Amino acid sequence: MTSRTIFITGAAAGIGRATALTFARAGWTVGGYDVDEAGLASLATEVAASGATAITARLDVSDSAAFAAAVGDFVERTGRLDVLLNNAGILNAGRFEDIDVARHQREVDVNVRGVVNGLHAAHPHLRPGSTVVNLASASAIYGQAELANYSATKFFVRGITEALDLEWGAQGIRVVSLWPLFVETAMTQGVSTGTTESLGIHLGPQDVADQVLAAVTPSRLARTLHQVHFPVGRQTRALSLGSRFSPAWLTRLVNKRLASH
Ligand SMILES: NC(=O)c1ccc[n+]([C@@H]2O[C@H](COP(=O)([O-])OP(=O)(O)OC[C@H]3O[C@@H](n4cnc5c(N)ncnc54)[C@H](O)[C@@H]3O)[C@@H](O)[C@H]2O)c1
Repeated sequence: MTSRTIFITGAAAGIGRATALTFARAGWTVGGYDVDEAGLASLATEVAASGATAITARLDVSDSAAFAAAVGDFVERTGRLDVLLNNAGILNAGRFEDIDVARHQREVDVNVRGVVNGLHAAHPHLRPGSTVVNLASASAIYGQAELANYSATKFFVRGITEALDLEWGAQGIRVVSLWPLFVETAMTQGVSTGTTESLGIHLGPQDVADQVLAAVTPSRLARTLHQVHFPVGRQTRALSLGSRFSPAWLTRLVNKRLASH
């Protein structure tokens, strides 16, 4: 029996890197893919030092052919695909009209197209018992001012997760998403929006990595309740619970207040 395997995009830094190291410490074989080759090289060294196996390669998730080739190569070398983590993402903060349209489009290319490419590339290799984890965000609860396009890409992730949980659930494949609020990584460095100011940044990449592991090995309760979305941190749990039970006008008002400088 070979060790379980996880294929991680955006693995060179931040949440992806913390997750790669967490799974390596748990004895999994880790596939790390990113556009940052220097970051991947140091990740491979760190994984090897923990006694686990890493396969790393450059991959731009917005390139569907390259994504399919990378997953194919990974499965050929490891023999199995237990988890796909669609984690690579980029974020533009600021007023929508002040951000160049090419940057908005690139955000869609990575955060939306990259996820579609990953799901499509992985599906032929997923087996009953496999899990797909997509990185959504607390910004998929309600559209976020000053993160409009980013937030909309995470609504896409939310939607495709729910739909494929239904479609692929029948094949024994779980599809889930994680919803962190702001996490202390390169992505949030220098970002100052109404909500980063009002809510602060209280999560680290390890908090999210631990939640990925928990989502992949769910408790009996999570399995019984068929949990699809996993909020990360107390603030996100409170916000998502609140939005589920409060009327739409109140959710809008709360979000407006949180976003106002
Ligand atoms: N940091 C946060 O506050 C936060 C909150 C909620 C959700 N998320 C989500 O978590 C995920 C990881 O974010 P992070 O905070 O670790 O960011 P990060 O910037 O620290 O790391 C992102 C990694 O993705 C890589 N990447 C970027 N474009 C790529 C591409 N086209 N192909 C392959 N790799 C690419 C980067 O090189 C980097 O290594 C993202 O999907 C993000 O939207 C982050």
